Amino acid sequence: MAMEDHIERILWTDEEISNRVSELASQISNDFKQFSSALVIIGVATGAFLFLADIVRKITLPITVDFIRVGSYGSGTVSNASPIISSDIKIDIKGKHVIVVEDIVDTGNTLSCLMSHLESKGACSVSVCTFLDKPARRKVHFELVGEGKFYRGFECPDYFVVGYGMDFAELYRNLPYVGVLKPEYTSDGCVATIS
Ligand code: IMP
Repeated sequence: MAMEDHIERILWTDEEISNRVSELASQISNDFKQFSSALVIIGVATGAFLFLADIVRKITLPITVDFIRVGSYGSGTVSNASPIISSDIKIDIKGKHVIVVEDIVDTGNTLSCLMSHLESKGACSVSVCTFLDKPARRKVHFELVGEGKFYRGFECPDYFVVGYGMDFAELYRNLPYVGVLKPEYTSDGCVATIS
């Protein structure tokens, strides 16, 4: 069965995503144009890799890029309340304006952990640019650092979604759109197999 056959419905197509990413990139380029030092873009691995690759190519300002890895879900669909930074950034962000690029904000646990971590490294401001936001599932409030701003691509209904970087059990990240899995592939403990 092809990977597409596991998808029950598509929420955002390739084209809708591309249009929205262009809008976010021009908003960011405009908001940060007065700063003389390069903007630091920090991608949250692995889920943000496609969104990050797309948005940085549309931002017109000088930037540096790094990645941070935070464990949150394991291989299921239930959020882990105590995220752990398993791989830290390498570049110095002291006195810099930082934008954290996320695939999706769900409970807010990951961002809350990241905000305090990046603030402790001396960032001048920390903004968040998340591709999707699921406000209905928020449990933890997170504070942006300094004059940080919050950007989001789309508000996501309360479904577990895959594609455009987002996975279930590490699969489906390479779908060019965002969709909802058929129920037989989403129950926790089910390991999806593609053949
Ligand atoms: P939070 O800490 O609960 O906000 O979760 C954030 C992380 O959980 C995201 O960066 C995603 O990796 C993952 N996540 C949350 N919801 C989904 C989903 O619907 N599909 C895939 N991954 C998700």
